Amino acid sequence: MKFWEKTCCIFQLFLGVFVAKVKSDVSTVGSATTLHCNHSIVNFTMVTWRVKLSNQSSCFLSTRGNGNERNCSHRIDLDLDKERTSLRIHNIVVLDEGNYTCEIVNRTGTFRDTVSLQVLAQPYVA
Ligand SMILES: *[C@@H]1O[C@H](CO)[C@@H](O)[C@H](O)[C@H]1NC(C)=O
Ligand SMILES: *[C@@H]1O[C@H](CO)[C@@H](O)[C@H](O)[C@H]1NC(C)=O
Ligand SMILES: *[C@@H]1O[C@H](CO)[C@@H](O)[C@H](O)[C@H]1NC(C)=O
Ligand SMILES: *[C@@H]1O[C@H](CO)[C@@H](O)[C@H](O)[C@H]1NC(C)=O
Ligand SMILES: *[C@@H]1O[C@H](CO)[C@@H](O)[C@H](O)[C@H]1NC(C)=O
Ligand SMILES: *[C@@H]1O[C@H](CO)[C@@H](O)[C@H](O)[C@H]1NC(C)=O
Repeated sequence: MKFWEKTCCIFQLFLGVFVAKVKSDVSTVGSATTLHCNHSIVNFTMVTWRVKLSNQSSCFLSTRGNGNERNCSHRIDLDLDKERTSLRIHNIVVLDEGNYTCEIVNRTGTFRDTVSLQVLAQPYVA
């Protein structure tokens, strides 16, 4: 009994630390969301968002300022403002669940930040 109690609590502690470490966004099917990158894009060479979906498929969106490349769903847009980049996802579907990583390349190096998107099925309305 004691063993299982301890195992449970150690597991919960681990889970708590894990959840706190990963930035997450919880959105409902059909809604829209914006995922933010925590790094400055000032004087960037290239900005890329890499998407790793929970069904193991992946896609990306990138810009060098003068040209864009992408192969993610058309429901996803890369936004740049003066200092930051974000990703807008429209009309969310269950398969959008996964990890969204921004990657800023500049003269100093490459900087990454990941947001984990969890998708909730729409509550049933009678
Ligand atoms: C490169 O980007 C990082 C992260 O945003 C930033 O801290 C750093 O100042 C940038 N370097 C240059 C030279 O702009
Ligand atoms: C960005 O580039 C401008 C023009 O080259 C420079 O004046 C400025 O200091 C740079 N900013 C950073 C954070 O490196
Ligand atoms: C997302 O990142 C978390 C934490 O690194 C990892 O446990 C999970 O397997 C990743 N999910 C996908 C779909 O890559
Ligand atoms: C995973 O989901 C994406 C997005 O809906 C879809 O395009 C892709 O075919 C799926 N991949 C697999 C391996 O099922
Ligand atoms: C997008 O391109 C990347 C890199 O070429 C590839 O690994 C990935 O499978 C592609 N994804 C889709 C949905 O076409
Ligand atoms: C951005 O997030 C990453 C982890 O995803 C972290 O290592 C980094 O220190 C953060 N940067 C800033 C400027 O908050």
